[in-house]
Amino acid sequence: MPNLTSSPGLFITGTDTGVGKTIIAAGLAAVLKGKGINVGVMKPVETGCALSSSELVPQDALFLKSMAQVSDELEVVNPYRFESPLAPWVAAEREGKEINLERLRESFEQLKRRHEFLIVEGVGGLLVPLTAHHLISDVAQLFQLPLIVVARASLGTINHTLLTIRQAQILRLAVLGVIINNPTGEIGLAEETNPQVLPSFITVPLLGIVPYCPELKGNNAPHILRRLLEENIDLK
Ligand SMILES: Nc1ncnc2c1ncn2[C@@H]1O[C@H](COP(=O)(O)OP(=O)(O)O)[C@@H](O)[C@H]1O
Ligand SMILES: [Mg+2]
Repeated sequence: MPNLTSSPGLFITGTDTGVGKTIIAAGLAAVLKGKGINVGVMKPVETGCALSSSELVPQDALFLKSMAQVSDELEVVNPYRFESPLAPWVAAEREGKEINLERLRESFEQLKRRHEFLIVEGVGGLLVPLTAHHLISDVAQLFQLPLIVVARASLGTINHTLLTIRQAQILRLAVLGVIINNPTGEIGLAEETNPQVLPSFITVPLLGIVPYCPELKGNNAPHILRRLLEENIDLK
């Protein structure tokens, strides 16, 4: 089993959107913080942000910040945010903006100087368009952090997980392991069998199987999320 903190940070990608990247990234930040590690968080680009008093609200970035209990400026944690619930490049185009990788690199470097360990949440999966010429995988390459792949527990996940790992390997991105997460609470044959079947196909460790936890939405969420990950992920 790999040591999660042997690198300068982690890049949390997923097999898809809505698989639990934010929950896992924020939960890991809270757990590592609890171990006395100075953890920073970053959500390079967030789309689908609600407008409140003419300000875009990046929910993922705010949740990451609150779980890691960091005071870094929101502009540094989340340099780009868009209202359209679309892939970053498509949202930026619609809103007449452009994403600059140099700006992402500068924010990342700034956070790196302030923190011992950085947890970066990706956007959607690895091959989501970021600019006309870049994909999210380019950000993972730029930051040089090992990946954790968050996968759904449901039917289709074996294919999506293998595709993601193979693509990472083609791009020479290190994959620390896979975390299976159940974001919906559905428990059928696929959810029961996937955790047993997936390890025989993947070439990286299965780091954990995180069950659906309905209490995550309440006031006690930080405490509950920390316990959920501590109990279900191998956190060496
Ligand atoms: N293990 C879980 N138990 C309960 N709800 C979950 C769990 N994982 C994810 N969710 C919920 O599912 C939704 C999608 O999760 P999220 O972490 O935002 O996914 P992503 O960041 O990959 O888009 C959120 O509403 C989140 O609270
Ligand atoms: Mg998210």
